[in-house]
Amino acid sequence: MADKSMDGLNTFTDQSAAPAVDTSKMMRVGIIGCGWIADSHVKALLRQPDAQIVACADLVPGRVAEFCKRNGLDGMDIKEYPSHKELLDDDSLALDAVCICTYNRQHAGPAIYALEKGINVMLEKPFTVTLDEAVEVMKAEKKSGKVLSIGFQPRMDANMQQIKKICESGELGQIYYIQTGGGRRRGIPTPHGTSFIQEDTAGVGALGDIGCYSLDMVLNAIGYPKPLTVSGYKSAFFGKDPNYSGYKKGKGEEYSKLFGVDDFAAAFIRLEGGIILDFRIAWAMNLDTPGDTIIMGTKGSLRIPSTECWNGTVGGPMKLYHEVAGLQTETEIPVIKMSQGLFDLKIRTFLDACKNGTPAPVPSSQILYNQAIIDGIAKSAEAGKEVEIVIPEI
Ligand SMILES: NC(=O)c1ccc[n+]([C@@H]2O[C@H](COP(=O)([O-])OP(=O)(O)OC[C@H]3O[C@@H](n4cnc5c(N)ncnc54)[C@H](O)[C@@H]3O)[C@@H](O)[C@H]2O)c1
Repeated sequence: MADKSMDGLNTFTDQSAAPAVDTSKMMRVGIIGCGWIADSHVKALLRQPDAQIVACADLVPGRVAEFCKRNGLDGMDIKEYPSHKELLDDDSLALDAVCICTYNRQHAGPAIYALEKGINVMLEKPFTVTLDEAVEVMKAEKKSGKVLSIGFQPRMDANMQQIKKICESGELGQIYYIQTGGGRRRGIPTPHGTSFIQEDTAGVGALGDIGCYSLDMVLNAIGYPKPLTVSGYKSAFFGKDPNYSGYKKGKGEEYSKLFGVDDFAAAFIRLEGGIILDFRIAWAMNLDTPGDTIIMGTKGSLRIPSTECWNGTVGGPMKLYHEVAGLQTETEIPVIKMSQGLFDLKIRTFLDACKNGTPAPVPSSQILYNQAIIDGIAKSAEAGKEVEIVIPEI
C-alpha cells in the first residue's frame, strides 16, 4: 500500500492573497460569442465585484437566451444582439470591455471592430488563425491605446510562473534546445458541435487550439525570442476517418466529412539566440503522450511532465537535472496548488489592466511570435519545405 504519510510534502499551496478590488468604478462588459467557453468567462465575471455583464451577442438565433438561462443571467437586464457588430455599434451600452469568445475565424474581425470603438478586449486563444490577422489586430490595438489581452489562462498558474523563474534564475545556464508539445489519445474537440473542426470556423486544428499553449509555456519562460525559420508538418488522419472512435456514436460519417483542419502537427523551429525548438501536438494519436516538455541548458535541464489530456498545464512535479559540487543530481520542483481559479485570475488581471491603464496580462506583442510560429508551421507544411518567418512592422 502506498505510504500516505508523505502526501503533501511535495506540494505547496500558493498563498498569494487576492488584493482588495476597487468597486468605485464598475466595468460594463459585453460577451461576444455565447458558446462553450463563454460560460467560463461569465462565471469568472460574476465573481468580480466590479464587473457587470450588460450585453451578449451570438450569430445563432436563440443562443444568447439559452446562454443567459444556463448561466443565471436571466433578470439581469442583459441586452441581446445578433452579432458582434450590432452590440459594438450600440453606444448606449457604454461598454468598458468585451470578452470575445467566438470561434477562431471570428477572432480578428470582432477584435478589430471593438478596438476601433475604443473598447478594451479580452480575446480568446489562439490569437487568430493567420499571422496577417494578428498584425491587423495589433495595428488596431496600437491606434486605440486600449488593452488587448489574449486568453491564455495557464499563464496565471504559479507552476508556469515557476518555469519562467527557473529559466531566468540562471540555474539552466545557456538554454540551447527545447522540446515542447502535448497530446490527447482521442481528443478531437466535438462535444458541443463542429466549430473546432471546420475550416470555415476554426481555420486551424490542434496546431492552433492546443499548440498555442505548448508554445506559450516555453516561449514565455525564455522571454519570447523571435522565431526565424520553421520546418513544419501537419496531418489529419484521425479527424477524416469516419471510424474514429472519439466521435459521438452515429456522427463519424458527418464529422469526418466536415473535418477540414489538422489533428497533428510537428515542427523544428529556429529561434533568435541560437535556440532550437522541437514541437509536436496532437488532438488524437495512438500514444499516451508525444513527450514531456524539456528545456536543456549548459548548466541544467528542466523536465516538465505532460498532462494526459493536453490543456497547457504542468502534469506533475518538474525535475531539474544538474550538478551539485560535481555530483549529477536531480532536484524535484514541488507542485504549487493554486488557491484561486485560473479563469478568475485571467479575468481579474484583465479588468485591473483596463482600470489602471497598465499593460495587458497576456500581451499581443508576445503572442504575435506564438502566432507567427503557428502560421509558419502551416505554411511550411503546405510548401513541403522549411520557410523563413517574416514578421511585418506594426
Ligand atoms: N481558454 C480556454 O480554455 C478555451 C477553451 C475552449 C475554447 N477556447 C477558445 O474559445 C473560442 C470559442 O470556443 P467555443 O468552444 O466557445 O466555441 P463555440 O463554437 O461553442 O462558440 C462560439 C460561439 O461564437 C458565436 N459567434 C461566432 N462569430 C460570432 C460573431 N461575429 N458575433 C457573435 N457571435 C459569434 C458562434 O455562433 C458560437 O455560438 C475558440 O477560439 C477556442 O479556441 C478557449
